[in-house]
Amino acid sequence: MKILAIETSCDDTCVALASQKGDNFLIEKEVISSQTKIHQKWGGVYPTAAKREHQKNIVPIIEKILKDEKEVKGFSFSEKKLAKIESLLAKDKLLKRRLLSFLKNKKKVKIDLIAVTKGPGLEPCLWVGVNTAKSLSYFWNVPIVGVNHIEAHILINFLKDEKILNIEKYMPAVCLVVSGGHTQLVLMKDLFDYQIIGETRDDAAGEAFDKTARVLGLSYPGGPAIEKLISEYRNIEMSKFRHFDISRCRDVEIRLPRPMIHSKNFDFSFSGLKTAVLYFFKKQPKKIQKSDTFKVCLAKEIQNAIVEVLVKKTIRAAEEFKVKSIILGGGVSANSSLRSAFKKEIIKNFYQMNFLVPETKLSTDNATMTAFAGYLRFKKFGKDNWKNLEADANLIIES
Ligand code: KG4
Ligand code: ZN
Repeated sequence: MKILAIETSCDDTCVALASQKGDNFLIEKEVISSQTKIHQKWGGVYPTAAKREHQKNIVPIIEKILKDEKEVKGFSFSEKKLAKIESLLAKDKLLKRRLLSFLKNKKKVKIDLIAVTKGPGLEPCLWVGVNTAKSLSYFWNVPIVGVNHIEAHILINFLKDEKILNIEKYMPAVCLVVSGGHTQLVLMKDLFDYQIIGETRDDAAGEAFDKTARVLGLSYPGGPAIEKLISEYRNIEMSKFRHFDISRCRDVEIRLPRPMIHSKNFDFSFSGLKTAVLYFFKKQPKKIQKSDTFKVCLAKEIQNAIVEVLVKKTIRAAEEFKVKSIILGGGVSANSSLRSAFKKEIIKNFYQMNFLVPETKLSTDNATMTAFAGYLRFKKFGKDNWKNLEADANLIIES
């Protein structure tokens, strides 16, 4: 079957076209239109601007993705349906204009399913994707399925080298989903059977990277910026940091808190980390604040603090719930220090444990994961009713 997937939960407009046959699941095309440059001046995602970018970009991207797809013969264009879509999109003039002109000019193409992220995420952004998907589903009479973004971050781990893994073999699992908006520990007892066992009480792990990076004068998104700063130092040690000795990292004596690392529950709290970084940074003389050496050391300590808390709590959850697998997902799971810390601790603590982590490009937001999660849901539960499909900013994975 052919699946068109749409993901607009945050600041990337993502569309993918996948084809599934048996256990093969192939992404034929994917476009991710990043809004990073637009949000950089705010140091985080500005929802109104993000929504507008989605409204501007979604239709041209879909057009590009479907350009070479086969037309369905005998499809009759319906003015009545077009009028209904016009009223559905009445409040969204920009999207309405683009989508109606697209539908009028584009013949129906051969797609068997439309998968769209319905939540959680930024509500105005989610609606752009959901309304677009609903319109296409209704106009072309193609089944639609709403996808939970957190579930998609988890399930993408079961797609490896274009093959669908035998999910049962990995159950039960503890899944750590760490992104810009979420930090959750989810016990996955089976496919579609989830229990949230811990989550952040304030900032998400990605948000902690973003906010502390800003203190250091690094650009948004902060996670990759912090990782790059640290690795640049590693690679160009002899030139850029000629007089820097790695052991001086200790001399600087930067020690940040590891929030809630010893608490008995599986919750997290990262807002104090940002405050600690800000306080520590401001306390330094201007000369130190501007020093690359100091920034690299502080960046390392920020990364260490976040990684240690995430790893420690996840490992403890894996022990307590006696799981067979540890699974990572979400933008922060692209962090190489987090990945290697997990590998090390898993070897140290368990005799046998599966460790699943997505390819780096599939850790951050993408529509491949939407297509895959949508396909698995459709296979088990069938299609959703397009009329009832709604964006839900606070959608919970247990529901
Ligand atoms: O999953 P994602 O792409 O979007 C949301 O659903 O929020 O996650 C984005 C978050 C941002 O906070 C970003 O700083 C963080 O993931 N991130 C990273 C890395 N790459 C992205 N954090 C640490 N290290 C990275 N390499
Ligand atoms: Zn995400």
